[in-house]
Amino acid sequence: MSPTEPANEPDTAPDADTGPASDTDADAVTLVTGGTGTLGRALVGRLLAAGRPVRLLSRHPRPAADRRPYEWAVGDLRTGAGLDDALFAGVGTIAHCATTNGRGDVEATRRLTGAAVAAGGDPHLVYISIVGIDRVPLGYYRAKLAAEAVVEESGLPWTVQRTTQFHSLVARLTVAQKRLPAVLTLSGVSFQPIDVGEVADRLVELAAGQPAGHAPDLGGPQIRSAADLTRATLRAAGRRRLVVPLRLPGALMAELRAGGNLTPGRADGRITYDDYLAARTAHLKRDARAGRGPGITAPGA
Ligand SMILES: NC(=O)c1ccc[n+]([C@@H]2O[C@H](COP(=O)([O-])OP(=O)(O)OC[C@H]3O[C@@H](n4cnc5c(N)ncnc54)[C@H](OP(=O)(O)O)[C@@H]3O)[C@@H](O)[C@H]2O)c1
Repeated sequence: MSPTEPANEPDTAPDADTGPASDTDADAVTLVTGGTGTLGRALVGRLLAAGRPVRLLSRHPRPAADRRPYEWAVGDLRTGAGLDDALFAGVGTIAHCATTNGRGDVEATRRLTGAAVAAGGDPHLVYISIVGIDRVPLGYYRAKLAAEAVVEESGLPWTVQRTTQFHSLVARLTVAQKRLPAVLTLSGVSFQPIDVGEVADRLVELAAGQPAGHAPDLGGPQIRSAADLTRATLRAAGRRRLVVPLRLPGALMAELRAGGNLTPGRADGRITYDDYLAARTAHLKRDARAGRGPGITAPGA
């Protein structure tokens, strides 16, 4: 398997080695919420490669050029619009990858589970969550923890998979500062980034299996300091910038410095951050040669 490349970039190449799903009804549809997002695109590609019928939920209409072999449902998890139709026919599994990137995830998850229960059929709900949400006092993490509770109490058969940060998110921490004279990092804080394709592989396995409750955490192969990851990102981009580690006060930073976001005993990912950076650089060079700028990548493309 090759490293997954970054978001807005083909982080979704379906893997040939993804075996056929086993335990669930092969004809039952997997509804992927957030199927247009970073993880969702990778997951949709893998489900299709495994021969699973897929329905993708998005707030937006299907792009006219998108001819991939899945159904597209338009719906909004915050308002509930479209959810009854999305869940109506043949859904055996829901892979819930949508996020509002904020506190809206609780209500979104409640709307999803409510609509799924009302539709009947008892689909297996697989929810993606984040390592350390019960330790690190971040508003988004509190919302994820509350959304997990909604899943647990939904009455649906469920599985929750927590993972560490995706490589692309860690890269963004540096790229987002490209206009600043120096790059700021968090002193004493480490990350354990994971390839989004490996997360998607795990979700394919979980979606094909029996409801497992809280699955063991999934972490990237290496734990590296924020400063080290920042320098690696800059090196890969051929940039020389001053890296300034900041030691910030507060409970959030203390918990991050204590490693609350890490899962050293579950460093099961194999694709390293350097693998990711090399693939990303090669991809950007290919695009530059082809005269392509960054664009929107179709799910699973
Ligand atoms: N990024 C990480 O490092 C990381 C690490 C561990 C776990 N996770 C978890 O993985 C999941 C996916 O993260 P991601 O980074 O792939 O997300 P993302 O790229 O930001 O994508 C978000 C997705 O959510 C959908 N969405 C947003 N609001 C919606 C709404 N109101 N109704 C329906 N769909 C909505 C969007 O679809 P449309 O715009 O097409 O509607 C989009 O496909 C999240 O639950 C996140 O907490 C992420």
